Amino acid sequence: MSAADIAIDLAIDLQEINVTFKRNDESLVALDNVSLQVEKGSIYGIIGYSGAGKSTLVRIINLLQRPNAGSVNILGQDLLSLHDKELRGVRKKVGMIFQHFNLLRSRTVLNNIEYPLLSQKMSRSKRHAKALELLKLVGLEEYAKAYPDELSGGQKQRVAIARALANNPDVLISDEATSALDPQTTADILQLLKHLNEKLDLTIVLITHEMQVIKSICQNVAVMENGRIIENGSVSEVFTAPKQTLTQKFVESAANVTEMR
Ligand SMILES: Nc1ncnc2c1ncn2[C@@H]1O[C@H](COP(=O)(O)OP(=O)(O)OP(=O)(O)O)[C@@H](O)[C@H]1O
Ligand SMILES: [Mg+2]
Repeated sequence: MSAADIAIDLAIDLQEINVTFKRNDESLVALDNVSLQVEKGSIYGIIGYSGAGKSTLVRIINLLQRPNAGSVNILGQDLLSLHDKELRGVRKKVGMIFQHFNLLRSRTVLNNIEYPLLSQKMSRSKRHAKALELLKLVGLEEYAKAYPDELSGGQKQRVAIARALANNPDVLISDEATSALDPQTTADILQLLKHLNEKLDLTIVLITHEMQVIKSICQNVAVMENGRIIENGSVSEVFTAPKQTLTQKFVESAANVTEMR
């Protein structure tokens, strides 16, 4: 069998990424030779403590952060070789959700979801229909005319997810999207992400500092510390035989949570 026969279909292929930030005279290495490969249609978890470099790493995926060295291949395209216009096209295929939802308070739920579509040549009625369809997908169809302040945290995150899906992305990045939510709401949002992964064949990269989150929906996991991926593999492998001390700590914490429940 040739290499091509066994090649898996990658949504994300980052190779030997370095990012160095300069502050005054000091330079800080935020990403130190990081490589990450995410298979299409999978859910990939990235875990690490604050400052490990998780957000910097996922900002490389849509080139919101340019690396000092390395290669960035997303959905089969070498992003570093693209012109602005082509880059904007790829960025539309990568949706993002965050801890603080980032909804526009002065706009209704429906208008928030329509927002990413405003820059497109699309009729008003088509845009409405698309936003309503997305609202249904996240289970909030009765809330179209509500304002963000009238929603619970979990509901706000559902709206943010719907908005992130407006451009029919192939990849969804979730940067601590459940960190502000209680355990039950976290579980609901994770199940929604799992559902969207299956229904839309959406590749998901999920950042968290809780191993429980990884355990519930991810197939693969990378553990980050000081700008490096110190361990990665399938969730079952890493949970059964964690190699690094930090990984062992995370695995233990997940076991404790399970026991408490
Ligand atoms: N724009 C920037 N300029 C300078 N330093 C930065 C910048 N962005 C991030 N850093 C630094 O890079 C390191 C990694 O930051 P990053 O935000 O990627 O961490 P993180 O793992 O996402 O942390 P958290 O869990 O707190 O979100 C930190 O030391 C941070 O201070
Ligand atoms: Mg972060």
